[in-house]
Amino acid sequence: MECKKGLFISFEGIDGCGKTTQIELLNNYLKEKNYETIVTLEPGGCEIGKNLRQILLFHKGFVSDVAEMFLYLADRAQHIEEIVLKNVNEGKIVLCDRCIDSTVAYQGYGRKGNIEQIDLLNNIATKGRKPDLTIVFDVDIETAQKRVGSTKDRMEKESLEFHKRVRQGYLELSEKYPERIKVIDATQTIDKVFSDLKEIIEKIL
Ligand SMILES: Nc1ncnc2c1ncn2[C@@H]1O[C@H](COP(=O)(O)OP(=O)(O)OP(=O)(O)O)[C@@H](O)[C@H]1O
Ligand SMILES: [Mg+2]
Repeated sequence: MECKKGLFISFEGIDGCGKTTQIELLNNYLKEKNYETIVTLEPGGCEIGKNLRQILLFHKGFVSDVAEMFLYLADRAQHIEEIVLKNVNEGKIVLCDRCIDSTVAYQGYGRKGNIEQIDLLNNIATKGRKPDLTIVFDVDIETAQKRVGSTKDRMEKESLEFHKRVRQGYLELSEKYPERIKVIDATQTIDKVFSDLKEIIEKIL
């Protein structure tokens, strides 16, 4: 089944909050209801982005904060056009693991970057197209880190304080954009989180 105009839904939250788990559950659920969906992610959802993802998550040496921000934005600019908007315009439901709010939360709150500048750059990267709906899975850092385990990427290796600021960033974003961003308590069981997610999704289908 095609949606009237397609839908762009992004999923956010600190590492280990359960994004991948819930996206997979939702994707199966929507497919069973005969919706056309695609699952994609940032960074790395398009060909160019795969290279950028390698640098962003696994580069061993020094990466400047500004370079990091522009690499995320370059990935986003390509991904939005090549994957997200193309599929939304074909009437599909695009389930996107991370998007604009990750840059505000990580590079803004986490790295203490300038949020007004990030908003402006996000706008350029996405040509102003915001997700129709954003889900933030909110969980405390300790629980999330236990879920992530010991193999950590470059961002996951950041300090506890960094991740606390990122979480706080997401919560503030949800207060700033209550229409677009919905928060789910992700400390609950996988089933309960998914039932909260379905309740929100049903309202916009
Ligand atoms: N609600 C939950 N309760 C307990 N364990 C969970 C829950 N949700 C996910 N998990 C488990 O936690 C781990 C991390 O989940 P998942 O990979 O979905 O998180 P993520 O947000 O995609 O993380 P990342 O940002 O690192 O990709 C997985 O092993 C998953 O099975
Ligand atoms: Mg994941």
